[in-house]
Amino acid sequence: MPANTIEHNRSRFNFEGIDAIWLFGYGSLIYKVDFPFLEQRPAAIRGWARRFWQGSHDHRGTPEAPGRVVTLIEQPGAVCRGMAFRVSPKVFEYLDVREKNGYLRFSTRMTFDDGSHADGLVYIATEDNEAFLGEAPEADIARQIALASGPSGPNSDYLLRLAESLRALGDDCTHTFSIETYLKTQASTGS
Ligand code: BEZ
Repeated sequence: MPANTIEHNRSRFNFEGIDAIWLFGYGSLIYKVDFPFLEQRPAAIRGWARRFWQGSHDHRGTPEAPGRVVTLIEQPGAVCRGMAFRVSPKVFEYLDVREKNGYLRFSTRMTFDDGSHADGLVYIATEDNEAFLGEAPEADIARQIALASGPSGPNSDYLLRLAESLRALGDDCTHTFSIETYLKTQASTGS
């Protein structure tokens, strides 16, 4: 899978005759809502875990010093909480460019807080994309995030804003919160 996924995403889904579609956000889409939406609702998807395993060369790092951003990893029994947005298909013309560094759109079923369901789309960076970094100890991930910065700003801002948004959503993402704790501890102890 090439690092730039714009063309691949455009050929993946036929939006003909569709006025609006649900999009599930679990990362920057939760706090950087720079696209129009018709409705938003907290939601969760099952069988996927949020992980800082995707490299960021274009937003929160550079090709020489990539940052780390989240993707979803299949994990039976896991529940990933996030925010669902009902959007016009036109929004994907923008988001496919914003999230071009390895992310593909996949269909998913999401569950809203009242127990109702909807089918929609979610961006996932799979391990066959060139920017995928994979698993690493959470303390090492925190160190890499502390050092990385790119056109969208410091990688640490991404982590801290995501952690804050997940807390507001009532999500218990131990992976994100543990990396946040390492980042803060390493900054205060210089380790
Ligand atoms: C999200 O917040 O759902 C998202 C994360 C990474 C890339 C695109 C979207």
